[in-house]
Amino acid sequence: MIENILLIGFMGSGKSTIGKQLSKYLNRNFIDMDEEIEKTENTSITSIFNEYGEEYFRKIETKYLESLLDKNEAIISTGGGIVLKDYNRQLLKKIGKVIFLHADVNHIVENVKDDTKRPLLQTENYVKTISELLESREDKYLSSADIIIQTSGKDVDSIVEEIISLL
Ligand code: S3P
Repeated sequence: MIENILLIGFMGSGKSTIGKQLSKYLNRNFIDMDEEIEKTENTSITSIFNEYGEEYFRKIETKYLESLLDKNEAIISTGGGIVLKDYNRQLLKKIGKVIFLHADVNHIVENVKDDTKRPLLQTENYVKTISELLESREDKYLSSADIIIQTSGKDVDSIVEEIISLL
C-alpha cells in the first residue's frame, strides 16, 4: 500500500497549488479538503462560517478528515486550521505522511492580500491577524509534521521536486 500524503500549513502557504502539481508528478488522486467540504455541504466555507460559526465548520472538518482514513495513495490538501484539535492531529498521523509547508509571514500576506474567501482573515488588520494566528499555530504544525519544507522564495516545481526527494 502506498501511503497518503497530507499537506498542512497556514492559509496562503500554497497547499492546494503544490498538492495539485504533486499529484500530477506522482500520478495520484488529489483531494482538496475545503473543496470537498463545500461540495458535500453544497455551500461555501464563508457561508458555513457566517451562518453556523467556526465551531460548526470545525466539526464538519473533523468528520471529513475521519472519512479520509479509508483512502490510499491520495495527495490531500488540508485547511489551515486542521492542526487545532489534538484529535485531528492524531488522525493526520493515521491517514498518511504529513508535510508541513512552512511559509514566512511576508509570503503569506502577499498570497492572501486580496482574498475574500477566508473568513478568519476578514478583519480590520489582517496582517496582525495572520501574525497572531501563525504564532499560536506554529508549534502545532511543527509537531504534526513528518517532513518540513520551506516554501518562501521557491517556485512550485522546485518545491514539488524537493518533496519527492524526501518521500
Ligand atoms: C482556515 C483555513 C482555510 C479554511 C477555513 C479556515 C484556517 O483553508 O479551511 O477558512 O483556520 O486556517 P486554507 O488553508 O486552504 O485557506
